[in-house]
Amino acid sequence: MTDMGFGGKVAIVTGGARGLGFAIAEALAAAGAKVLVGDVSGAEDAVHQLSSTGSDVKGCFADVTSEDSVRAMVEAAQASFGRVDILVNNAAIAADMAMTRFEDISPKAFLRMMEVNALGTFLCCQAVSPIMRAQRYGRIINMASGTAFRGMPFVSHYVASKGAVMTLTRSLAHELGEDEITVNAVSPGYTITGPNMANESYMQKVRPEVLKLRAIKRDAYADDVVGAVLFLASDGAKFVTGQILAADGGAVYH
Ligand SMILES: NC(=O)c1ccc[n+]([C@@H]2O[C@H](COP(=O)([O-])OP(=O)(O)OC[C@H]3O[C@@H](n4cnc5c(N)ncnc54)[C@H](O)[C@@H]3O)[C@@H](O)[C@H]2O)c1
Repeated sequence: MTDMGFGGKVAIVTGGARGLGFAIAEALAAAGAKVLVGDVSGAEDAVHQLSSTGSDVKGCFADVTSEDSVRAMVEAAQASFGRVDILVNNAAIAADMAMTRFEDISPKAFLRMMEVNALGTFLCCQAVSPIMRAQRYGRIINMASGTAFRGMPFVSHYVASKGAVMTLTRSLAHELGEDEITVNAVSPGYTITGPNMANESYMQKVRPEVLKLRAIKRDAYADDVVGAVLFLASDGAKFVTGQILAADGGAVYH
């Protein structure tokens, strides 16, 4: 891989134990960054897998909905690696969510979606901002979703939470830019990260619609998305902020 300048850089990837988060952590580590994986489950296994390739990776339990837990995650990154340069807000209620008519989504389920996906992103940004401001350097990348551009039936709470992530991205870019911290988002389309996502219902009902929307008419895999995250985390993107980069095969244009 071309040297993207990640040597000596420290990244936190939330929800990095599986799926896109794992692929992002793997790619950042392979590109030379030191990576802390924070997740509510599976962080240790992920670290075990990633370390076996010689990468400098640590992991910890982290619940992005808890201020204390988020603070502990950021402190763990600092204690292990001495700084925090990159934050990837990837943790979300995502692959496991059930398709539900909006009339049947309870206020509790709606708030839980907002709590993990939107508040979690907000809390992680708050926790790293003093460090990044002091360094006068930082790259924050939030995981958005193409569903928030177009809307999508039966996951309205998820779509609303990703809309919040997108608008938060723009606002924080304004506030943090004075200290050379960039805040951007990557917006994937439906991305198959494991067999659970290529299930029968997806293949039969959703996939034809997804492919119809795309300029590049094929399934998307983690490898199709991680490059956009790495670009926004790199010095090549130092003057890019407040943007939402669609890595979706040409499905949304904005
Ligand atoms: N895969 C897709 O099709 C797709 C499409 C658009 C956007 N995205 C976004 O990309 C990101 C990753 O998606 P994915 O498909 O890999 O999701 P996933 O559900 O496979 O993984 C999410 C990860 O977040 C962790 N997590 C959940 N709640 C948490 C919490 N409270 N604190 C910390 N970690 C928590 C989970 O344990 C899991 O490891 C998400 O933000 C998702 O919304 C994914």
